[in-house]
Amino acid sequence: MRIAPSILSADFANLEAELRSISGSDLIHVDVMDNHFVPNLTIGVPVVARLQEVTTVPLDVHLMIDNPERWAGKYAETGASSVTFHLEAASDPNEAISQIRSSGAKVGIAIKPGTAFDNVAHLLEHADMLLVMTVEPGFGGQGLIESVIPKISEARDFMQKNGLEVSVQVDGGVGLSNIANLARAGADTFVAGSAVFSEENRNERITALRLLAESI
Ligand code: DX5
Ligand code: ZN
Repeated sequence: MRIAPSILSADFANLEAELRSISGSDLIHVDVMDNHFVPNLTIGVPVVARLQEVTTVPLDVHLMIDNPERWAGKYAETGASSVTFHLEAASDPNEAISQIRSSGAKVGIAIKPGTAFDNVAHLLEHADMLLVMTVEPGFGGQGLIESVIPKISEARDFMQKNGLEVSVQVDGGVGLSNIANLARAGADTFVAGSAVFSEENRNERITALRLLAESI
């Protein structure tokens, strides 16, 4: 069970200190938004590259951008541990996969709440992680969409039946009240933005979330 705090809820004027405050995390989730695929804008390649230099925790880059085929490789080249692109944004998902892979990062594929699992199933043999969005991508602090939970189980069953070692990540509205339930459904990697950064002691919150996920 891996906890990946999302720095979307961090203080963007003090990112180095914010990264230090989550040193106990398994991954650091970096939300890249382009104001096209989603109606919000965050950071790009130079900032992600610099973040990588000031932390030893692996970076998990979540691209919420159009045309991932063009950009995914550049994010992978920053040294990020994993780069996830949205299926809905890709006109050639296999090209995005090969760009990420050839730059040495793990491959994640994300689907929005309204995208059925069947649309992504055929690509999973080439992926390391499936990101099942539990909110509409674009903003932190939203409530988890409960109706997505069966899709997590569907994904986990598919991995088991097909012998795939693909992580199932959830992102959006994850917190103390629902993480055990998400783990039970089959998630193993949990993004949490507001649930971590709203706490003064972030590492304590990360440990509490991990214990709950492992308690199932
Ligand atoms: C939303 C982002 C999430 C977001 C999660 O589009 O992909 O990573 O930061 O924030 P919380 O945990 O506050 O819902
Ligand atoms: Zn995210």
